Amino acid sequence: MSSTTNNDYWPLPKNDPWSTPFAETLLSVVDLFSGASVLDLAAGGGIPSFHIAEEVGPTGKVLGIDLHPGQIQRAKTVQAHRVPWLQFIHGDIKKIPQDLPQFDRITGNLSFMFFRPDRFSALNEVLKFLKPGGQIALSFPSLGTFDPLWARIDKEMKKHKLVKEREALEEYRLERPSSDHVQGWLKELDMDQIKIKEEPLEIKSNPGQEFLYHPLLRNGFLEDAYECFEDQKLAETVMNSVSNDMESFTPLLAIRCAFSAWKKN
Ligand SMILES: C[S@@+](CC[C@H](N)C(=O)[O-])C[C@H]1O[C@@H](n2cnc3c(N)ncnc32)[C@H](O)[C@@H]1O
Repeated sequence: MSSTTNNDYWPLPKNDPWSTPFAETLLSVVDLFSGASVLDLAAGGGIPSFHIAEEVGPTGKVLGIDLHPGQIQRAKTVQAHRVPWLQFIHGDIKKIPQDLPQFDRITGNLSFMFFRPDRFSALNEVLKFLKPGGQIALSFPSLGTFDPLWARIDKEMKKHKLVKEREALEEYRLERPSSDHVQGWLKELDMDQIKIKEEPLEIKSNPGQEFLYHPLLRNGFLEDAYECFEDQKLAETVMNSVSNDMESFTPLLAIRCAFSAWKKN
């Protein structure tokens, strides 16, 4: 396969039930142009860095940055020296190398959750790498994601008279930023044309073990619910009951949130 500027060359993978839907929401709010320079945060295996590279073409430049060397390696293996204007580097989005230039666009699919704990300061830092007149667009699962599930876990915790666990669960739920938080931070940072889009994404599963070990849920969302318990045996009991009562929290909806804002000239 050779390098090409055909936009269909690096489509978002249709069989990815998580990154692709978030990337679709993200790409719907970002304005890409031929020749643009783009910094793609938390690039992972390259969704949507490859797609963005195709959009900006060989006169553009895309730099994907990710914390985990394994992810960078995976992206480079997929790339195999094609689209040479796309580069992947290892790095922390909260400590972007100071020698990087400013970019026309900053993107990041499923990235904003990693700006914690101080999301406002982290956003402020990242914006130093955006050119005046440039656009930032990031996506993340926002507050409200799987709320009926957290309510069902809370109900089960209450049945077992668990106090600390319920507090930990509520703290975990509220740690997720809302579109209102994002709007407030972007305004405080004097950003222009702030746009926030939220769309539901249904996650399907059968009850029981399939739910408890669902690849999209166990590594991240459910893991955090288990961490609310000191006693992991008790966690198993509670979570088993919850997993067999899926009708009480389905459809299971994540909130796909993407925001876009422009840096004033
Ligand atoms: C959910 S994946 C998203 C990857 C890709 N953008 C996608 O849509 O498939 C999150 C990525 O964020 C990376 N990550 C987490 N914390 C990070 C940090 N502080 N700096 C850079 N990357 C980070 C992880 O290594 C992982 O590849």
